[in-house]
Amino acid sequence: MPINLMQTSIAPQASASLTAALADTQGNILKSHGRDHSEHLFVRFTGDPAACGGWLAMMADTHVTTALEQFEASLARAEAAAVVEGILDPRAKARAITILPDGGAFVNLALSAAGYRALGLADRMPDDPSFLLGSKDASILAKLRDPAVEEWEAGYQGELHALVLVADDDAENLAATVAAIEASLAGTDSAGTPIGEVAHRETGVAMRLDDDGRPLASAPVREHFGFVDGISQPLFFASDIAEARRRNGGIDGYDSSAPLALVLIKDPGGGPDGHGSYFAYRKLRQDVAAFKDGRRRVAEAIALEAGREEATPADEELAGAYMVGRFRDGTPVVVQDVPGWTTLPNNFTYDGDADGVRCPLHAHIRKVNPRGDTRAQLGIPLGGSQARRIARRGVSFGPQTLDPAPEDEVGLLFLSAQASIVDQFEFTQVSWSGFPDFLRPGVGLDPLISQPPPGTEPAPQAWPRDYGSHDQIVFEDEGNVVISPYLQDISVGPLVTVRGAEYFFAPSPSFLRSA
Ligand code: HEM
Repeated sequence: MPINLMQTSIAPQASASLTAALADTQGNILKSHGRDHSEHLFVRFTGDPAACGGWLAMMADTHVTTALEQFEASLARAEAAAVVEGILDPRAKARAITILPDGGAFVNLALSAAGYRALGLADRMPDDPSFLLGSKDASILAKLRDPAVEEWEAGYQGELHALVLVADDDAENLAATVAAIEASLAGTDSAGTPIGEVAHRETGVAMRLDDDGRPLASAPVREHFGFVDGISQPLFFASDIAEARRRNGGIDGYDSSAPLALVLIKDPGGGPDGHGSYFAYRKLRQDVAAFKDGRRRVAEAIALEAGREEATPADEELAGAYMVGRFRDGTPVVVQDVPGWTTLPNNFTYDGDADGVRCPLHAHIRKVNPRGDTRAQLGIPLGGSQARRIARRGVSFGPQTLDPAPEDEVGLLFLSAQASIVDQFEFTQVSWSGFPDFLRPGVGLDPLISQPPPGTEPAPQAWPRDYGSHDQIVFEDEGNVVISPYLQDISVGPLVTVRGAEYFFAPSPSFLRSA
């Protein structure tokens, strides 16, 4: 039965058609799988289409987690957690925590356009233009300003047909699931050729670290520049929206809810209830030393601006918040100029800060989600910019430290889910983050994720003065920015390098069973 993809705040328990659709859609799209450990297996098929099709069906039957299974498990866990929260006796609470249902293994399986073609299934694949081209296509490399494929890690340079994402909170269980999947790929077709090989693999880890970078199981997840990540996400389930009302400071100021159509499309190769989502996968190496150097330069200018000779730790915190848009603990700099909110707030907009005095217009989170800024500045209604949102499902790679050694490779295994690669991921990366004149001329590039055009140096960004006085950044009539003499020459970035990438589509289980 068809479902209305424009619906928001879904409660699958209440609708048979929704239940059927979620049973024929993979997990990790409408909601993050939430496990701390993951392995990403990039598969290249070598067997004949019949044997590979049999393997896809086995994966759907044995391993792949559906959106419905993921949702039901999360409800069971939330109910158990609520019981635990209500228990006052600490010893009884500790006992009860041990009976909370474990997340268990989680598996996603997504195919690249090259994968559909290798399986002889090109007539059943979805048709996003960038998905069909793939990340290695010269036009995509040029559009995203990505390095030449020869500069990528060797494992990404050849054709990658499928991404199998396996996640678990328990590292041993994770290894067992990965071993079972690898063994199944070694099975052979009628000519004795293996079904496929793992051409490349990545290990992802959710870094639960305190403010000083020490491991702490109850800490929120951070990325390698030291910032709490994963706070702002489009929300689809009524239960997640209720949770955001409770935990993220409400949703009356900024509404994180989103229609299913933001991330789901009808799977053209699936059954009547089958839905899928495009995945943009990018291994982004983070240059932590360059980040710290940029933050120090901004902090020193803030100090000079305030009449101090040396930057204080508070200046450093503010400088980092100017680059990201949030302090390391998640406090939005548009809301206050010091860290310290106790919840992870997401209920804010930039409405009172059109000139970027509190939060620079180039700050990462302001570039990638203007939260209605486009309405005031460009006349584009809120719905227009909200439709560009992506569901971020990435995870860090490399040593779990905020102070990596120079030889350490650290960064983000970026993964976004969306209904259109062109209109969402690529638009965000290219037309917002990577466009120095969004939202106004002279704003500059997003310091976190953007590259200047090849052969050019990045222009200085429009940093506000220390916002103790809110009127010190001025956009003149023609749109140019007038800023502090100390800050006007500072340019930060690029801070990340693409080490490999591919576009995938996570098809419906009914497609996998009939491939
Ligand atoms: C938010 C870091 C790459 C899109 C954030 C946040 C941090 C962060 C610290 C704030 C936490 C939150 O609001 O959830 C990084 C780092 C990256 C990276 C270190 C690279 C290594 C990207 C890329 C994109 C992107 C490539 C898309 C093109 C977003 C979006 C948000 C976000 C949409 C939420 C903004 C909001 O709704 O306010 N990122 N990010 N990020 N990032 Fe990134």
